[in-house]
Amino acid sequence: MYLSKLSLFSFRNHTEKNISFSSGVTVIWGQNGSGKTSILEAITVLSMGKSFKTHKQKTIIKKGKNGFIVKGVFLSKNKKEQIAIQNTKQNKQLIKINGKTITNRKELIGKNNVVVLSPEDQKTTKGGPKERRLFFDRLFSVINIEYLNTLQRYNRILKQRNAWLSSFYKTKQNEVLENQWDKLLVDVGVKLWDLKNQHFFEFKKELVRVIKEYNDNINIDLFFSEDALTKEEFEKKTKKNIKRDIVLKRTTAGPHKDNINILLYDKDIRDVGSQGEHKIVLTLLKLTEMNIIKKKTGTQPTLLLDDLFSKLDLNKSKKLVAFLNKMESSLGEPIQTIITTTDLVNIKKSGLLLSDKKINTYKLETNCNTLLAQ
Ligand SMILES: Nc1ncnc2c1ncn2[C@@H]1O[C@H](COP(=O)(O)OP(=O)(O)OP(=O)(O)O)[C@@H](O)[C@H]1O
Ligand SMILES: [Mg+2]
Repeated sequence: MYLSKLSLFSFRNHTEKNISFSSGVTVIWGQNGSGKTSILEAITVLSMGKSFKTHKQKTIIKKGKNGFIVKGVFLSKNKKEQIAIQNTKQNKQLIKINGKTITNRKELIGKNNVVVLSPEDQKTTKGGPKERRLFFDRLFSVINIEYLNTLQRYNRILKQRNAWLSSFYKTKQNEVLENQWDKLLVDVGVKLWDLKNQHFFEFKKELVRVIKEYNDNINIDLFFSEDALTKEEFEKKTKKNIKRDIVLKRTTAGPHKDNINILLYDKDIRDVGSQGEHKIVLTLLKLTEMNIIKKKTGTQPTLLLDDLFSKLDLNKSKKLVAFLNKMESSLGEPIQTIITTTDLVNIKKSGLLLSDKKINTYKLETNCNTLLAQ
């Protein structure tokens, strides 16, 4: 499956825009603020029902308008699929697949996958534990519906338990209720840890392969700062923490507190990583994500590279292009790649335009909404 057509209405600075894509490489270029990242954001909305930039969908709606619409046509050898998503100012979301309204965003997830590499994503290596949990939760949800279901269930229980903790002094709830949330928290939490550990182990194995193939002498390791608890351990800890949880009005132990560390040459990358090292580690994590999605779902995700080549030095971007070319030849099919840049010189330097592949380039004009094919 690849994205063949994209239409945007009242999406950030775009009033109306229609873009056609090939199954190979498309470069979208234009000045700062011309709406390049917004186009990649719209493609992610089609894939996940959500933006990679914000969880406040309202802020995406073009100023002065009441809602945005994104439409996409996805093609494969023998299938055509149309997806349309509308979001209103009132936070109402309507999703249609081939004209039929779906009631749950989950039906969308895992269908037309994308892997995004954008400056915003640098939070994955530079940010706190929450950012890394988000990276792995998203990936594991895409490749395993059971993971997504378990995660959503766990988050619902957590919300209810926290609400109960908050109202403890007011309502003086009895112990029966306390035990009810705790039992659910432990049962679902342990299941989530179990699934997370399985996928995490696979991810680490794939990362080693990717590093080798990418041909970089870099030493990266990933690990949980604390091991997942067994059912008995989690039960004990929840009981032990209950007084503290009531005071703090939140649940202090469980998979929602997992901390995954990224080590670079045996040291936490957040303490030692240079800008370039952060970029390269993020790139390797994303390429691993791509391989895992391909392996698990059988379909190749679309790769969205936002402003990448201005962020990687020449040597690294050349390596990335070589890696993608190698991946394509082993797959025997193109990897749909959509790249944004402010200036085509960076792309030319990377060696991308020198290869024999046909590459489409589009220029986004800042003040008028026309897209000129180059
Ligand atoms: N809801 C909105 N309504 C109108 N304009 C918006 C909205 N949200 C963002 N914008 C504007 O849309 C423009 C496009 O932003 P975008 O991030 O897509 O640009 P870009 O081409 O990626 O720029 P850069 O090269 O700086 O990364 C920006 O000027 C931004 O301020
Ligand atoms: Mg941008």
